[in-house]
Amino acid sequence: MANKDLRDWIAGVEKAGELKIIKGAEPKEEIGGFVDIYMRKMGNPAVMFDEVPGFPKGHRVIANILTSVPRINIALGLPPETTEIELTQWWRKYFKDAPSQPTKAVNGGPLLDNVLSGKDVNIEKIPTPVWHEHDGGPFIGTACLVVMKDPDSGWVNYGTYRVQSHKPDLASVMMSPGKHGLIIMRKYHERGQPCPVAVIAGMHPALVMLGGIEIPYGKNELEAAGGIFGESVEVINMPKTGLPVPANSEIAFEGFIHPDDRIKEGPLGEWTGYYASGSDLEPAIRIETLMYRNDPILMGAIPAVPPNDNTYYFGAYRCGAVWNQLEAAGIPGVKGVWAHEAGGSRFLLVISISTLYGGHSKQAAMVAAHCHAGAYCNRWTIVVDDDIDPTNFNDVIWAMCTRCDPRDQVDIIHGGWSSALDPMCYDTEDDRRNSRVVIDACVPFRRKKTFPKIARSSKALDDRMRAKWAKDLPKGF
Ligand SMILES: Cc1cc2nc3c(=O)[nH]c(=O)nc-3n(C[C@H](O)[C@H](O)[C@H](O)COP(=O)(O)O)c2cc1C
Repeated sequence: MANKDLRDWIAGVEKAGELKIIKGAEPKEEIGGFVDIYMRKMGNPAVMFDEVPGFPKGHRVIANILTSVPRINIALGLPPETTEIELTQWWRKYFKDAPSQPTKAVNGGPLLDNVLSGKDVNIEKIPTPVWHEHDGGPFIGTACLVVMKDPDSGWVNYGTYRVQSHKPDLASVMMSPGKHGLIIMRKYHERGQPCPVAVIAGMHPALVMLGGIEIPYGKNELEAAGGIFGESVEVINMPKTGLPVPANSEIAFEGFIHPDDRIKEGPLGEWTGYYASGSDLEPAIRIETLMYRNDPILMGAIPAVPPNDNTYYFGAYRCGAVWNQLEAAGIPGVKGVWAHEAGGSRFLLVISISTLYGGHSKQAAMVAAHCHAGAYCNRWTIVVDDDIDPTNFNDVIWAMCTRCDPRDQVDIIHGGWSSALDPMCYDTEDDRRNSRVVIDACVPFRRKKTFPKIARSSKALDDRMRAKWAKDLPKGF
C-alpha cells in the first residue's frame, strides 16, 4: 500500500514517547474510565487497549488520539515541535491553497483480511466501549467517517457523525441539521429510496480530522486528505453499495438507511460537556457487509466536558478557517483568532484586529459570529485590539472589563445555527437555534487618541531591561 495508515501514525506516536498501552481493561466501563482521565489534560499520551476481556488478543482500541500538539503534527506530517499558533497558520494556508488529489481505486488492501456478509455480519466482534457511564450503549463510531454519495451529482461525502452499535447487523447514525450526510440521505428518502451508507471506524487520523471539519458542500474529504498526504488516497469500493473506503482502513461496514427506519439512539456524553440531546429516534443502518483487518484497531475520539479529543485539533483549524473567511469578507487588519477549548472550540471565539475605522471591530465581530466556520454553535464572539493576545484570557477579560461599554459594544443576535447538543438551544427538532453575543472589546475608534495610557512597561523598556538585567529577570522573559 502506498498510503500511510493508522498503524504508521501509532508507530510515529510511540517513537515520540506519546503512547500508553493498557492491557485487560474491560469495555463496559473501564476503557471509558481510563480515557476520561487521560483526556482531561493536554499532553497526556494516547492510550491503546489490548487484551480486552471477551475479545481475541490483538483486537485493540485506541483513544485520546489528538490531545497533544505533537500528535496532531504527526498526523498532518508536520514537525512535532510545530506550535498551536503555527498550526492555525498551517490551516489558513491549507484552505487557501485547497490542495487536493483524486482518490485512486485499487483492487485489494488489508481491509479485505476479513469480509463478513449476510448472516455472518457481526459488528460485536469489534471491542466497542461504552465510553461514558450514562451512555445509551457502545459507540463504534466516534472518530469515524460516514460515507454517502449524492444521488444527483455523484459527490461522495465523508462526515464524522457518531454511530451507535445496537445489534450484530444494526447501527444508527446521528447527523445534526445542516450536516452534509443528512442533506444527502434526505435526497434518497424523498425519492422513496434507501440511502446507501458506509462507516469507517479506524483510519489515519488526518482523515478523521477532515471528516470533522467544515469542508465545503460538494467537496470530497478523501481528496482533501490526498492534498495533505501529497498522494492519492487508495480506495476499494464496498461490495453492496459501491461506496469507496480507504483500502488500509482498520474496520468498515456498509448497508442501507431505509426511509422512516429510525431507532432509539443515544444518549452519548457530548463535546459540549453534557447529555443535552438525550436519546431520540435516529436513522438505522441495516448492515450488509463488515470488513476488518487482522488484529483490527477501533479508533475513538471521545467527546466529554471540554477540553476533549474533539477540541484540541478543532480549535487551530477553526481559527485558521475563521481568519480566512474574515479576510474573504473584506475585513482588514486581522491579527489573530482564537477558539478557546473550554468552549469546545466552538462556543467562544476571540478575534484581535488593528482597528482602522469606526465600526470596524463591530463588523469583524458580526462576520466572525456567522461565517461558515464560525456559525455553528457559536455563543460568544469577542473582538479585541491588536495589543491583546487572544490566547491569553487574562488579557481578553481585561479588555472586556476596561474597553467595552455595553451600551453599544455588546449585541445579542437571535436565531443562530445551533444543535440539540447545545444545552441552551431553542426551537424544534429540525430547526435548532441559539442566541449569541458579540462583544466589541476594542478601544472605541473615536477615542483611540485620547484613551488613557496603559500602565505597563513599553516594549522598548522591556528590551532595555533584558539587555542589562537578563540574569535577574524571570525565566523566559
Ligand atoms: C469526533 C467528532 C465527532 C462528531 N460527531 C458528530 C455527530 O455525531 N453528529 C454531527 O452532526 N456532527 C458531528 N461532528 C461534527 C461534524 O463532523 C462536522 O460538523 C463536519 O463538518 C460534518 O461534516 P459535513 O460538513 O460533511 O457534514 C463530530 C466531529 C468530530 C470531530
